[in-house]
Amino acid sequence: MPPEPQEVVGPLTRAAIFLVVRVNPGGESVAKDLLADLAGLQRSVGFRSLDGGLTCVAGISSSAWDRIYGSPKPAELHDLPVFAGDKHTSVTTKADLLFHLRAERMDLCFELESLIMARLEGVVTVVDEVQGFRYFDARDVLGFVDGTENPTGRGAVEAVLVDDDEAFNGGSYVIVQKYLHDMTAWNKLTTEQQELVIGRRKLSDVELSDDEKPADSHIALNVIEDEDGNELDILRDNMPFGRPAYGEFGTYFIGYAKTPSIIEKMLENMFVGSPPGNTDRILDFSTPLTGALFYVPTAEFLEGPIV
Ligand code: HEM
Repeated sequence: MPPEPQEVVGPLTRAAIFLVVRVNPGGESVAKDLLADLAGLQRSVGFRSLDGGLTCVAGISSSAWDRIYGSPKPAELHDLPVFAGDKHTSVTTKADLLFHLRAERMDLCFELESLIMARLEGVVTVVDEVQGFRYFDARDVLGFVDGTENPTGRGAVEAVLVDDDEAFNGGSYVIVQKYLHDMTAWNKLTTEQQELVIGRRKLSDVELSDDEKPADSHIALNVIEDEDGNELDILRDNMPFGRPAYGEFGTYFIGYAKTPSIIEKMLENMFVGSPPGNTDRILDFSTPLTGALFYVPTAEFLEGPIV
């Protein structure tokens, strides 16, 4: 039987927490023990609300892998490169662990995060914590439906699970980026202008035709193919977040894939441009504050051998 993956593939939920931490020197064994017990903690919280759909996916960065698990190492685990073009530059954050908590209700995410942090108290430094919410018909705060073209069913499994790295098959790679939007500039555009930025209709969510869709639209730059013309899919579960009182309107981008190279190609298209200079119009209204790459081991790997 192939090893049991973590719950990377699942239905979109109403609530999520994205927690990114650094493990302080000396905290490696506490972090490793917490990761081994994570599934049990998830059951303790999730089983009390059977319709709550609580899941938690843990990811480990390249430098954290070296410190916590050593060798062997997943073949494509490395630090997220910075993508720098003439106009836009991405951000790479120093990060060790990602916890992606999802549920139908925020209280379940909150409770599990509390248990995780209680175990990690004193041994980690929090880099970032974002509480995301599902907004109307799965729209981002720019007002567009986000997630439509995600693969589903077997296609999703094939898109996200590593299948060519023997010891690490069944795992996945995940890239996160926290974006803030300039809503004042965005709201100055007409709906038709906004549709040209994204590449889809705002109300109906229908994709613009090839004639209508500009080469610098978000969709045009993020549909990528291999040399045989097959589309390369990733699984996204972006979440809006924000505090309107402070002018904060954001999208937490999260993308899972069987190889980080697919998401990195998309980031290169967006920030450097394809061809170079033809950058994603969404970046004229969206600024990344963070960015990191993690490997998501199988559930069995995290739990470790029974001793
Ligand atoms: C599609 C929003 C960042 C990759 C979309 C769509 C929206 C959207 C509204 C169209 C509906 C859909 O299929 O989901 C955003 C926002 C972002 C963001 C607000 C943050 C500023 C990113 C990043 C990547 C990415 C950083 C990749 C590195 C994709 C892909 C699609 C997509 C692959 C589907 C393309 C297709 O097959 O049609 N995004 N996105 N997005 N986005 Fe993003």
